[in-house]
Amino acid sequence: MNLESLKSQLAKYSQEHVLDYWDELSEEERQNLAAQIEEVDFETIATLVAGKDEKIDFESLAANAETPPSVRADGSGAEWSVEEALQRGEAALRAGEVGAILVAGGQGTRLGFDQPKGMFSIGPVSGRTLFQIFADRLLAIGQKYGVAIPFYIMTSDATDAETRAYFEENDYLGMSSDDVRIFRQGTMPAVDAKSGKLLMASKSSLALSPDGHGGTVRALDRNGCLEDAKKRGIKCLSYFQVDNPLVNVCEPTLIGHHLLSGSEMTTQVIRKRFAMEKVGNIALAEGKVQVIEYSDLPQKAAEATDADGQLKLWAGSIGVHVIDVDFLCRASQNTSSLPFHRAQKKVPYLDASENLVTPSEPNAVKFEKFIFDLLPSAKNAFVVEVLPSEGFAPVKNADGAENDTPKLAREAIVAQHRRWLEAAGASVADGVKVEINPRFSLTPEELRTKIPANLTIDADRYFDA
Ligand code: UD1
Repeated sequence: MNLESLKSQLAKYSQEHVLDYWDELSEEERQNLAAQIEEVDFETIATLVAGKDEKIDFESLAANAETPPSVRADGSGAEWSVEEALQRGEAALRAGEVGAILVAGGQGTRLGFDQPKGMFSIGPVSGRTLFQIFADRLLAIGQKYGVAIPFYIMTSDATDAETRAYFEENDYLGMSSDDVRIFRQGTMPAVDAKSGKLLMASKSSLALSPDGHGGTVRALDRNGCLEDAKKRGIKCLSYFQVDNPLVNVCEPTLIGHHLLSGSEMTTQVIRKRFAMEKVGNIALAEGKVQVIEYSDLPQKAAEATDADGQLKLWAGSIGVHVIDVDFLCRASQNTSSLPFHRAQKKVPYLDASENLVTPSEPNAVKFEKFIFDLLPSAKNAFVVEVLPSEGFAPVKNADGAENDTPKLAREAIVAQHRRWLEAAGASVADGVKVEINPRFSLTPEELRTKIPANLTIDADRYFDA
């Protein structure tokens, strides 16, 4: 580290204040701070602070937005059948061409859980954690198709150490440690909302935060995961968020739709319940599939309907995608392939009198990239609908909130497994909780072959592997 070159770099961007306490720091603190500064892309920060980055005119984009190319939950809308999609997806799984990528860098502030969210216990009967549920599913799919599915897990500074320790202490949840790759996403500094100056978290540290789930592209590349995937012959990655226990990770039909549509990135969606629902909206605009966040969507465009009186923008994002490895490699070589989004946040900072201030109002701007901004540059981007009851029950808010709570997610798991059991001929008493480990059965069809005819369940029951 060269202090003079750091100083001149900072001076060029009027950010010299970050070295104000340099003389008071230990050698180790100096090295840490210097390393943080060296990681900052000052040119990009300056462009963002000056508002000179390309702005999207969501109003006009939304005004011309149409329903994207998609297949509906009932299988309509595609030129191929659901059966063909299933077979195509199964062939890809059997050939070992599918991997999984989980983004688990978020802090779970809204849930009020102070460990990585993946460690949250959600199994309604088993008490299994989110991480366990995902690992069980990957093991079950791997076993069914005779392959090992590589599991790439993105963490952040806030979740990395605990996530690694959790996997190590729990024997990689039954997976081979060779197949689990935990890697850390990058950071972005928060800036003061008024002055654009970098905020300090302490005398020896910038106020840094994760660079958004769009940071996955760079982090996968930097940590050798794309290379690893290529070496293993993986063609596409099943991408998912840590908060959804019902997620269809590596689901063959979804993979099949992706492959048959010739798409480089396919996104799974739910039908919005109402026009202004708070989810990202998947739209076809200016000839490209794009996501318009609910906060950017004008009411008129949200309420626009087609000839059948259905919402044009019916497709709500659930953060589940299938992405080609070659496409990710291409995107990782183009640093400007994803724009930064701004969020006004409350960020604790060291003030001029050396006090750590915890603001009560948003004082800072954080910059984040979103993975779904890859969609417009993907060839033949495609959309697949899933019913929420079969694929989306996110754990975002603490119990007591109106939606997306652990209680509701557990109920959704029980409801799905009750349907499977009843379809397989079992009778489940009212109010009884049931839960099926995917290693016991991955699908209702498989379940039918595993349970006795006319099974009666009158107490809570967990069908373990
Ligand atoms: C997100 C979507 C929203 C969608 C909803 C469905 C965005 C901006 N919005 O909202 O369109 O309807 O999910 O559940 O994505 N993460 C990281 N690193 C980061 C930030 C997030 O790994 O820097 C991970 C989180 O751990 C989580 C996922 O990304 O797994 C989603 O993050 P979060 O910020 O909670 O998104 P939502 O606001 O819930």
